[in-house]
Amino acid sequence: MQKMIKNGYIYAGTEGYQADILIEDEKIKCIGKNIPTEVLKEKENVIDADGCYILPGAVDVHTHMDLDVGIARAVDDFYEGTVAAVCGGTTSIVDHMAFGPAGVPLHYQFEVYKKLAEGKAVIDYGFHGTAQHVNDRILSELETMAADGIPSVKIYLTYGFKLNDAESLQILKKMKEINGITAFHCENHDVIEFLKQKYKSEGKTAPVYHAKSRPNLTEAEAVSRVLKLAQMAGDAPVYIVHLSCKESLEAVREARKKGQKNIFVETCPQYLLLTEECYEREDGLKYIMSPPLRTREDCEALWEGLMDGSIQVVATDHCPFRYGKEKQMGKEDFTACPNGAPGVEERLMLLYSEGVEKGRIPMSRLVEVLCTNPAKIYGLYPQKGILQPGADADLVILDPKAQGILTHEKMHGAADYTAYEGMKIHGRIRQVFSRGQELVRENQFMGKKGSGHFLPRKPYCASLFAHALLDKK
Ligand code: URP
Ligand code: ZN
Ligand code: ZN
Repeated sequence: MQKMIKNGYIYAGTEGYQADILIEDEKIKCIGKNIPTEVLKEKENVIDADGCYILPGAVDVHTHMDLDVGIARAVDDFYEGTVAAVCGGTTSIVDHMAFGPAGVPLHYQFEVYKKLAEGKAVIDYGFHGTAQHVNDRILSELETMAADGIPSVKIYLTYGFKLNDAESLQILKKMKEINGITAFHCENHDVIEFLKQKYKSEGKTAPVYHAKSRPNLTEAEAVSRVLKLAQMAGDAPVYIVHLSCKESLEAVREARKKGQKNIFVETCPQYLLLTEECYEREDGLKYIMSPPLRTREDCEALWEGLMDGSIQVVATDHCPFRYGKEKQMGKEDFTACPNGAPGVEERLMLLYSEGVEKGRIPMSRLVEVLCTNPAKIYGLYPQKGILQPGADADLVILDPKAQGILTHEKMHGAADYTAYEGMKIHGRIRQVFSRGQELVRENQFMGKKGSGHFLPRKPYCASLFAHALLDKK
């Protein structure tokens, strides 16, 4: 099957330029100016994208579909969650697998997740491993997980199965040895637990105390510690998930300035756009997530970090619970509220509207942080994250002139709210293609349940970043 997208403004890892894209079966065959439509066997397969931007399908390397957090389960399974993702312009996800029963090997959760995703996901998907304890078996399994297409593992420094520094160091060393990358949820568990108990004992149980019990420095301390551990492991590749505040960013810049290599940083739209004032609202439970929302000053510091290259990725940490149901568990006590919020569908719209349209980042940077960098860091490049011959024909046609209002009514996930209700949005996603198939047209999902493939990912490749922005700041 062939298709041609004509006259779009193409963002393929560079400044945009007007050209045509020829798709053959699941791949991009060629990109060029004025490709004659005569090359098409079926003439009707021409899509006019005049006045629109064409960008690679976005890659979200931080989602939690169907996540079991013990007290509740994230309400998007791999079908609903990936329909929401693709309607928002995301054509690949790398999902963080949940903790399993105590003591299980890494492959145990991999088997569980294969079953959760197979036959449901509508876009291509991979998984990150989750280390919940460390022993010789786990360390050697990191190697077999990588061979099975999972060259990344996440460590939580808080929550039930948190790892200590010695355990984290062993994982970092092993991951470096096998060209893997270790992702960290950075928060100082002991201090947070102390503050949570203190507020509770004083009867301070409203949502705002979720934020007060997790101040900026509890994150920044953990970020600094993790960076030192990575340095001790010989500049092991390290990826900080959902970085949310200026002090953490300073710690990253400091480490890079001293010459530490292989540091990657992710933030999320909620930390760029929303502030702790949300917790004072009547529906403040909607915003209980960890780390919590911060101040406007933190948001501005993160935008600056995106622009100057300190931050490489904007992912979502999509972890949806219903306000009308699961979130109400925290009504009397914020510590009983499941942590997390929906966001997989909103990411591209928000970054285009609030980032590009408002002049905070250029379009080429949007493509880097949503598409190309996550694909490079996590072993999906150049199959994903770029528009070039040979890449999967995953692409988004975006009309930059359209305007609308972001509202839950028009969204596709199973949560009962969006954290951005009523926000004015510039730009509209007109069509989304995944491996050459049109999956979305004008906000309508047109694909088939289960059409997504498991993505075995390649090892971490430092040379992809040889001349990149990563060590600039
Ligand atoms: O509150 C959050 N972020 N929930 C999802 C799990 C995590 O910490 O990433
Ligand atoms: Zn986390
Ligand atoms: Zn997460």
